[in-house]
Amino acid sequence: MSEPAAEWPTVGLTLRVDGHEYPVPQVWIGDSLLAVLRERLDFDEPRDGCGAGECGACLVTVDDTPAAACLVPAVAAVERDVRTPRDPGFDAARAAVAAAGAGPCGFCAPGLAVAITSLLRRNPDPGPAAVREALSGVICRCSESGHWIEAVALAKEAEGGAAAGSGASPDPDDADLVDPARRPEAAAP
Ligand code: FES
Ligand code: FES
Repeated sequence: MSEPAAEWPTVGLTLRVDGHEYPVPQVWIGDSLLAVLRERLDFDEPRDGCGAGECGACLVTVDDTPAAACLVPAVAAVERDVRTPRDPGFDAARAAVAAAGAGPCGFCAPGLAVAITSLLRRNPDPGPAAVREALSGVICRCSESGHWIEAVALAKEAEGGAAAGSGASPDPDDADLVDPARRPEAAAP
């Protein structure tokens, strides 16, 4: 957590995270939701990646909408429903990501699970374009992300959908399009 300017006031707040209420005293008003989750409440997921809304490692949902926790002021999350990747609602996607082998180090996996779950909740039968768009905000620096398409298909199966013949089925051409290595930002060191 960054050192606040001396004049920054603090507030006590209560966050509802994964269905539980957490009182948090003396939160600097400049603190992000990510900082409070990780450093005050000991949630090791979401991950702390870029801190600038660029990598998707810190994805959570706020009132069922995916959000980069590093960009959400903690005070703005009061009286909202915050769900981290550890919420059971993301279990199916987490299992699918693991089963698809979607990345060796796993750093991006929590954010990926949130992105996949959010996609399938608003679009149970996503086509390749919808999959590409939904996952484009999650950057993986060490994986051939063709597995991500497979992870979506597996998550869909786990949710009870019929993956066979759907637009989310693995397809090498589609996989190329969501490979972060092909995105310009992935070229940065
Ligand atoms: S840490 Fe929030 S988007 Fe990268
Ligand atoms: S598996 Fe390492 S960043 Fe995605």
